[in-house]
Amino acid sequence: MEAFIRSVGAYAPPRRMSNHELAEFVDTSHEWIYSHTGISYRHIAEPDQAASDLAVPAAHRALEAAGMTADELDLVLVATSTPDYIGLPSTACVVQHAIGATSAGAMDVMAVCSGFVYALETARAFVKAGSARHVLVVGTEVYSKIMDWTDRNTCVLFGDGAGAVIVSPQTEEGAKSAVVDSILRSDGSGAESLFRPCGGTRCAYIPGQTPDSELALQMNGRKVYIFAVRAVVDTINEMLKRNNLTFSDIRYFVPHQANRRIIEAAAKRLEIPSEQFYLNMDEYANTSAASIPLALDEMNAKGVLKRGDAVITIGFGAGLTYGANLIVW
Ligand code: ACO
Repeated sequence: MEAFIRSVGAYAPPRRMSNHELAEFVDTSHEWIYSHTGISYRHIAEPDQAASDLAVPAAHRALEAAGMTADELDLVLVATSTPDYIGLPSTACVVQHAIGATSAGAMDVMAVCSGFVYALETARAFVKAGSARHVLVVGTEVYSKIMDWTDRNTCVLFGDGAGAVIVSPQTEEGAKSAVVDSILRSDGSGAESLFRPCGGTRCAYIPGQTPDSELALQMNGRKVYIFAVRAVVDTINEMLKRNNLTFSDIRYFVPHQANRRIIEAAAKRLEIPSEQFYLNMDEYANTSAASIPLALDEMNAKGVLKRGDAVITIGFGAGLTYGANLIVW
């Protein structure tokens, strides 16, 4: 049975930080950030809010929109690289308990900024195989808590948020809608282009010895930029080619919202009008695995997305990972 996205929901913490506010304590400016990234604001979680605390309201909204209760779910997938706990337990289990998904399995999917693309394909595979009927997929991130807030190369780029979808078997109601195809790719040779050097088992945390900056996210911005443009170009070309489509068949391309310049450079190479890429990094900055479902929820709420529209999502990020989903909404 084909799988389709039955509903979508999102949640962003209310605290909204502008570039101007950021420039009060980091050596940067609104002009630099906006001109280099397209970002004006980011939402920041409260000190007591973890990734699951953002995921739960997003999940509730998706369930409500689907007209379902949590006990109907067979599987909870949480895509996050900022989990509630390091390694164990999974954030998915925390979400499963909080929403009362009493009949569901739960696991995290770790593909960083490609996490939603990977988790959506995982959900589709479970539904197609008949191993699950209704799957909750959430992308949720609290990057504000893994930032070195003195490092202007990284802290200006990220924000917090969550987005969720319910994936179900295609029915009469969703007869045209489907997750049609996915591409999942990786290149671990770039593992250290974007990473947190210490705190795991490679460089374990030693109290009083491990510098704070080694526990925070570090990035080779230039290297990631070059990889990201190529990843967007290659996945879109492959997805269109293998489904016998041209860009004019696609209502919207919904990329991971890392940086407007990455998307504009890719659009130019692909010769696709940049207006066909839905962008909202201006408001949320880079929310990693949450950015695509946050955008889908916004598009759905604004009526930009209608049932039957073809959409291609494109993820790229640490790992390095990249990929895409072709969705008929
Ligand atoms: N404010 C002011 N100046 C800054 C800032 C800042 N926030 N950051 C860097 N600069 C300065 C640099 O110090 C440098 O100054 P210098 O010339 O005097 O040395 C100058 O600006 C240019 O720096 P570059 O790093 O060359 O700037 P660039 O144009 O490459 O833009 C950026 C940097 C935006 C990070 C870009 O490389 C990029 O977008 N990379 C991809 C990043 C990304 O999207 N990462 C997330 C991937 S998703 C995931 O998996 C988490």
